[in-house]
Amino acid sequence: MFDTPLIDSLLIRLFRFRTRGFMKMEEADGQVPPVPAGDAYLYVHIPFCEVLCPFCSFHRVQHQVAQARTYFATLREEIRRYHAAGHRFTGVYFGGGTPTCEPDELVATIGLVRSLFGVRDISVETNPKDLQPPLLEALRAAGVTRLSVGVQSFDDQLLREMERHTKYGSGADTAERIRLAAPYFPTLNVDLIFNQPHQTMESLRRDLAIFRSLGANQVSMYPLMTSPTVQRRMDRHMGRPDQRRLRQFYQAIVRDLSPDFAPSSAWCFTKSGQGSDEYLVASENYVGVGSGAFSYLDGTLYSTSFSLQAYGERIRAGLTGITTQHRLGDTDRMRYTLLVKMFGLGLDREWARARYGRRFFRKLWGELRTMEVLGAAQRDDHGWRLTGRGMFWLMLMMSEFFESVNTYRDAMRAHVQEELEGYNRPCPQLAEGVCRQPVFS
Ligand SMILES: C[S@@+](CC[C@H](N)C(=O)[O-])C[C@H]1O[C@@H](n2cnc3c(N)ncnc32)[C@H](O)[C@@H]1O
Ligand code: SF4
Repeated sequence: MFDTPLIDSLLIRLFRFRTRGFMKMEEADGQVPPVPAGDAYLYVHIPFCEVLCPFCSFHRVQHQVAQARTYFATLREEIRRYHAAGHRFTGVYFGGGTPTCEPDELVATIGLVRSLFGVRDISVETNPKDLQPPLLEALRAAGVTRLSVGVQSFDDQLLREMERHTKYGSGADTAERIRLAAPYFPTLNVDLIFNQPHQTMESLRRDLAIFRSLGANQVSMYPLMTSPTVQRRMDRHMGRPDQRRLRQFYQAIVRDLSPDFAPSSAWCFTKSGQGSDEYLVASENYVGVGSGAFSYLDGTLYSTSFSLQAYGERIRAGLTGITTQHRLGDTDRMRYTLLVKMFGLGLDREWARARYGRRFFRKLWGELRTMEVLGAAQRDDHGWRLTGRGMFWLMLMMSEFFESVNTYRDAMRAHVQEELEGYNRPCPQLAEGVCRQPVFS
């Protein structure tokens, strides 16, 4: 009775209203933020890509060899700065863009992070084309525990629409490469996107069947998320997603992946049912380094500069890349915690009490009760567990939150549009040349 588009849309409106203050960023001084009370993760952003896919909502620029090498060296300086200020991390996530665009630089940076922090988990994002034995060997030797491959779909028609077919290979090539790479790492994750404008149910189910045949043990199923800029680009290249199809697609995903793949968050499914793709689920606090990265530390959100030039200058001047910040109010902080915990499948009552005291249950009574009444969460001796029904809504809410982050990215990138356009020139040092498609038109 509650699984209707009307309830979905009411919940999203309510969520939007309740979280409207999350991204109100203000200017920051760029000093290293205070060390948080609990564990923290390190997120390292590498914005370079060989192809700038039209649907992509992340901060990325055309890969240029010399510039990328300088950028990695700057990143290492920034990481040392956090270490010197007393920050410690239990895991590291190299995201992008494409962190494997400069393998030697990436390996040197992993080495530095390991030597400074002795991290347990090392996660790296890559594209299907980079899945070659020398790189796989190098990443395994560097201690990478999770490799995440951006596949998006195995459907050649959709790959063409996404402008990935020529550079990153056909669906069949990609499948072969994943089969080869899967045994190298404890976790091999595949990213797939659902609700693409011309995706059919058959195509999605074929993607899932192919994924299941490859020996990879994790899949992140992202709903296609947009922002005004991404949408405009997609209008020209791919069309518009139809939000009314989300529920049907999501139900097919959960059905087709079970029982061997169990959810580890509302959009990540893992073979053993353990682990999660999300650094924001793995640890409440995280520090983001590099250009266009976010941090969350003890209730404050930070963002670094989206200008690669300004980022380099700030690090040379002895600062971090941070240019804006927003200290969440007490209730917003608790709401953020609730969102992240429920997205990660459940909230532990004792943990919440220790973290915030009894006021957590008083302030969020409405949210917790609504989840129970709608059947999105079940209360037990330990706290609140997300139900199958709740998974769909948490997927929607996290996607809504990411879209608000995308809108912030749009605004920040618009400030430095001229600089970013300058990166979109062919790089003479890249063996095969680069994509010349105008991205900021
Ligand atoms: C930052 S990319 C890194 C992977 C690598 N660069 C590649 O594309 O092969 C990480 C993942 O974000 C997801 N992603 C990017 N833009 C998205 C969007 N607009 N909606 C949903 N997922 C998106 C894709 O699944 C992608 O694999
Ligand atoms: S999807 Fe991956 S390769 Fe494409 S632009 Fe985004 S980060 Fe780069």
